[in-house]
Amino acid sequence: MRRPLIAGNWKMNGSKADSIDLLNGIKAGIADIQKASVAVCPPFPYLYLAEDLLRGTAVAYGAQDVSREECGAFTGQVSAAMLKDFGCTYAIVGHSERRMFNGETDEIVARKYMQALSQGLTPILCVGETLDQREGGKTEEVVARHLDAVLDAGGAEALARGVIAYEPVWAIGTGVTATPDQAQEVHAFLRKRIAAKDAAVAESVLILYGGSMKPDNAMELIGRTDIDGGLIGGAALKAGDFLAICKAGDANA
Ligand code: 13P
Repeated sequence: MRRPLIAGNWKMNGSKADSIDLLNGIKAGIADIQKASVAVCPPFPYLYLAEDLLRGTAVAYGAQDVSREECGAFTGQVSAAMLKDFGCTYAIVGHSERRMFNGETDEIVARKYMQALSQGLTPILCVGETLDQREGGKTEEVVARHLDAVLDAGGAEALARGVIAYEPVWAIGTGVTATPDQAQEVHAFLRKRIAAKDAAVAESVLILYGGSMKPDNAMELIGRTDIDGGLIGGAALKAGDFLAICKAGDANA
């Protein structure tokens, strides 16, 4: 039985004051969420606020990225050990915005994934196709390549210790959500591909959906067999919307 996870990816939004408000807002409503797991991923500088304000609550937190290197002369990067030091549970790796704007390759993403694991963090591996790739019939090829990079680097054991997020690039921040059928089809494809390596891992690994998930479509998406929660962008910036999506996760637990 997979327990749904709702994770908020705040991206590069908000101030210190906004982050405090948002964390307190989520904290105030979290008692209503009984079964789903909940996490937030604030920008790096505000992780200490999560550590302070979420202490003793059921809300976990993580970072939006992690260095592929262990430590050393890598200006501007943040290591997995540093994230662990601030009490992070999760690290998002391979988000399409990093693949696009920071030139991250599958190899880099796989190294980040393995670095996160090496410090006991749970990596959230983002996979997903662009609109061109979807229209060119390449969706499965692209998500398989994203997935295989980690399978090749660490095997099914590595996937067993992480979370996958299917995030079609054309649905991110656009208001165009994948239909539950479209999302379910890709989630089932990913699970089948993992099952070919290890059936037990395929059965237990969480596959989240991300891309314009909102309170009004979360229920239907998370209700599908292979959709185990959401990685939420815009709607994670308002405590009320985020908690409403967490409730949809709860209802499907
Ligand atoms: P939106 O929910 O804003 O579409 O963002 C999704 C996302 O990229 C989460 O990582």
